[in-house]
Amino acid sequence: MSALVAAGVLAGLPFLMAQTNTSKAAPPPAVVERGKALFGQDCAFCHGRDAGGGETGPDLTDSELVASDVRGDKIGTVVRNGRPENGMPPFKVSSQQITELAAFLHQQGKKADTRPGGRRGVAVSDLQTGNVEAGKKYFNGAGGCSSCHSPTGDLANIARRHRGLELEKRMLYPRDARATVTVTLPSGKDMTGTLSFKDEFTVGMTDQSGWYQSWPTNQVKYTIHAPAEAHVELLGKYTDDDVHNLMAYVQTLR
Ligand code: HEC
Ligand code: HEC
Repeated sequence: MSALVAAGVLAGLPFLMAQTNTSKAAPPPAVVERGKALFGQDCAFCHGRDAGGGETGPDLTDSELVASDVRGDKIGTVVRNGRPENGMPPFKVSSQQITELAAFLHQQGKKADTRPGGRRGVAVSDLQTGNVEAGKKYFNGAGGCSSCHSPTGDLANIARRHRGLELEKRMLYPRDARATVTVTLPSGKDMTGTLSFKDEFTVGMTDQSGWYQSWPTNQVKYTIHAPAEAHVELLGKYTDDDVHNLMAYVQTLR
């Protein structure tokens, strides 16, 4: 992180000075780009690469806190303090990095607002305009859904258990499946638990009795198993029609 901090401080000064009198001006693309890179490194694991929500973190394009943030004033507080009790870890970040992260998040929020299909999972029209047969075909074919799910197995009656937009949200951003991690200690002993934290330097887990433990990543071997990660990848792959059709199909599973 220290190289990033230094680069951010040096490269960021002109931006800060240029911004002081126009709080509403869009940040320069280079700042958004650095924010995107940082986000990809530190945040995407939980919030999704596009900030649209991931396995263990909420959609930040839809967050009121992010929407009301001005150049990092609110985002900075959350990122620096974290909300460890709710699964959001604290980060050591420079104020320049906060500015960059905020610039990226605001851009993602704007994108999601202006593209109706851009924020996956909130349009009521998705529920009505799809084609069941096309959805089924996508499920068994291009979507690769059937390699993990079965309409008569785990997804049987799914449309009875969850309806409408709630069902669509669960399909697009499944949150239930927590990632697990197996850590091999220097002694050769394996430990498995729920992945609670992971960055470049640290991997942390909560074991079955609820204890949190962490290790420096360079001292242990570890394997992360993130079963719903496929859904994060899918977000970049579906077209709007795919989502409409899948919803039409999934709603028949009742
Ligand atoms: C280990 C998973 C994880 C990582 C990594 C993570 N977050 Fe979070 N984040 C969460 C969770 C879970 C919440 C929701 C906490 C809550 O409900 O109070 C959250 C909440 C937030 C919120 C508040 C959203 C709101 O509407 O209240 C912001 C902003 C945020 N994260 C930004 C970031 C940024 C920026 C990074 C990277 C520097 C990051 N997060 C990394 C899990 C994570
Ligand atoms: C690599 C495996 C994998 C692939 C591929 C995959 N999923 Fe999932 N899916 C999961 C996991 C893991 C979960 C979360 C566990 C759960 O809730 O069942 C999940 C959750 C879901 C849920 C919510 C289930 C519930 O009970 O809340 C739906 C609906 C769903 N997926 C549909 C799809 C569709 C449609 C596709 C294809 C476009 C797809 N999945 C592709 C692994 C996968």
